Amino acid sequence: MVLGGPRLRTPGVRAVPSLRYLYRQPAFSIGPDSQGDNDQVVSLAQQALQAAGHTRIRKTAASPQAAAANLVPQGGLFWDGRADTLEQQINGPLYNPLEMDAGRPARVLGKLETAPYAQDFVRLFGPGVFENPHLAIDEAMFAIARYQIENPDFHPFTSKFDAWLAGKARFTPAELRGYRLFNDPAKGNCSACHLDHPTPDGLPPLFTDFQYEALGVPRNPVIPANRNPRYYDLGVCGPYRADLRRQTQYCGMFLTPSLRNVATRQVFFHNGVFHSLERVLDFYVDRDLHPGRFYPRDAAGRVIEYDDLPARYRGNVDRVDAPFNRHPGDRPALSPAEIRDVIAFLDTLTDGYTGPRH
Ligand code: HEC
Repeated sequence: MVLGGPRLRTPGVRAVPSLRYLYRQPAFSIGPDSQGDNDQVVSLAQQALQAAGHTRIRKTAASPQAAAANLVPQGGLFWDGRADTLEQQINGPLYNPLEMDAGRPARVLGKLETAPYAQDFVRLFGPGVFENPHLAIDEAMFAIARYQIENPDFHPFTSKFDAWLAGKARFTPAELRGYRLFNDPAKGNCSACHLDHPTPDGLPPLFTDFQYEALGVPRNPVIPANRNPRYYDLGVCGPYRADLRRQTQYCGMFLTPSLRNVATRQVFFHNGVFHSLERVLDFYVDRDLHPGRFYPRDAAGRVIEYDDLPARYRGNVDRVDAPFNRHPGDRPALSPAEIRDVIAFLDTLTDGYTGPRH
């Protein structure tokens, strides 16, 4: 966990997601965001009610677009989607006592007023900007959000994969095998959720369908909050968002993250429980075949599958979409050699590709 707080000594409760490639993240909704704006005409609770009677379409790499119509939580920022816009997202870490711990808005305003760029601020947002603290802070958040949207450093699309899409690079045999496994509905099936084809508008893929899933990731004992056996991070249904607490069908669901630059990450999944892509891939293919490799045992020696969820929510864990559709005794969806190939492909998603090495 990354340390934060006033002395940079307090560990957070979740893995820090990248700020890259968020510029096309839709607002949080249950079901496709058809309104196309942030005015929620129908409340989330009402949307959840409407969604309750619908059967979920199985996610397959063969027709990933079909699942886009699913009435499931989608869009939003943070692992639980509690911020709709980049502006709101910034408020999270800014005031979180475990992160930047900015205190009250008045303190932030004081810093803005005395910052070297204070005059630019007045020029951009008008002479009265500092008289209304809320206005000044909103404009500051807006400025940061625009910076993230307009500065290509936040979405450079300079990976080998992008060069390959443009016909300017060739995959090695291992990368090509990995790409095929990533897209094969009977093997990795990864692209069912981590979409890897250009959008209908011709925009490069972001390797997420913006939807939420419960993967049953193991509990991470390194997170101090987890010392309390009654504490659970349930994602969409809390505790860091409260509006969907009663929608228990969503407990344990977290946002499908982009896989761009994933090979540069130190910790994986919302709670950072794994430290290597090998381990993540092992989990994907062996979770239900050899659960003892990932979960602890109870006093009677039985493996506690999906141990980071209270027993009553373990039914929310995805057991239908490949590669999670395997049962004890089945062959894993990917062999160790195939896992290496998938990782070779994931390595092509790292930005800064400069051509073949000689
Ligand atoms: C059913 C949808 C689904 C499928 C299929 C799927 N993923 Fe994921 N993936 C997710 C979700 C949801 C998360 C985040 C889960 C969490 O943190 O609790 C995730 C997280 C990850 C992460 C961790 C990223 C990070 O920043 O922490 C990696 C790596 C990953 N997936 C790779 C893959 C690969 C490779 C495959 C194919 C073998 C695959 N995924 C198949 C939904 C899916």
